[in-house]
Amino acid sequence: MVDIERLSVGIKGFDDLIAGGIPRGFFVAITGEPGTGKTIFSIHFAWRGVLDGDKVIYVTTEESRDSIVRQAQMFNMDFASAIDKGKMIVIDALLKTRGDEWSIEDLDIEKLVEKVIEAKKKLGYGRARLVIDSISAFWLDKPAMARKYSYMVKRLLYKWDFTTLLVSQYAITTAEAFGFGVEHIADGIIRFRRAIRNGVLKRYILVEKMRQTPHDMRMYEIEIINGEGMIVKGPVELRREDITLPRDVMEKIRKAKEKTEKETTFHTNLK
Ligand SMILES: Nc1ncnc2c1ncn2[C@@H]1O[C@H](COP(=O)(O)OP(=O)(O)O)[C@@H](O)[C@H]1O
Ligand SMILES: [Mg+2]
Repeated sequence: MVDIERLSVGIKGFDDLIAGGIPRGFFVAITGEPGTGKTIFSIHFAWRGVLDGDKVIYVTTEESRDSIVRQAQMFNMDFASAIDKGKMIVIDALLKTRGDEWSIEDLDIEKLVEKVIEAKKKLGYGRARLVIDSISAFWLDKPAMARKYSYMVKRLLYKWDFTTLLVSQYAITTAEAFGFGVEHIADGIIRFRRAIRNGVLKRYILVEKMRQTPHDMRMYEIEIINGEGMIVKGPVELRREDITLPRDVMEKIRKAKEKTEKETTFHTNLK
């Protein structure tokens, strides 16, 4: 038997889908359209880290630090006190608050890595969790750099004992063009989806990849409950057309992707 140390995500019903948790040291891509639950999933992972005594770093690019703290508070996770007690650092890459040592001025991937390492040193030695929400923000204006940047992040952070969630956006129009890059280097891919069923918004989660893990292959419905957070409900059987986009949209995506691939000059000579 291979004994693998796994980190609980802290979401009711989710750890069971991946044989108990995410293997220590993994880089896991979290992808999905806006509003599908990526940030809330990541907040759970971070909070579970605090409870387990891990060092926790959360980088936020699309919401302010306050917004993340408030969102967590709605599910009774006290990020503010975890930060005060030196168990957790939330790096704000949105507001560029002057004089705040845990904010970054611009979306520069090398500065980010530097800041993350600085935060890890501050939190101290030991098992750590890192969330970058989102990593695609760092290449929004240069999607061709996605793969190179992803490799760089993985290489530079490798020895710092992080288990990492890399959130990436799936913009409706460009879809895979944005997700692509992170998925390439990921040890795991967790995909969020949404659909309207009988006029009601439903959300789903699917483990598309998890190395060294006999993971569940089914798509599960999830729910986000006020005061509680995300829970995993039962597996679903959907017809393909329930979750795929209309044909003309798919065609647009394919063209966008083709274009990006052409623009991509892929260098492996990383620092
Ligand atoms: N307190 C809450 N109770 C119930 N649902 C909530 C609560 N807070 C947020 N949500 C739901 O979560 C969604 C946002 O999820 P989020 O993880 O931020 O999405 P993503 O990061 O994928 O864009 C909201 O649109 C809302 O539907
Ligand atoms: Mg989000």
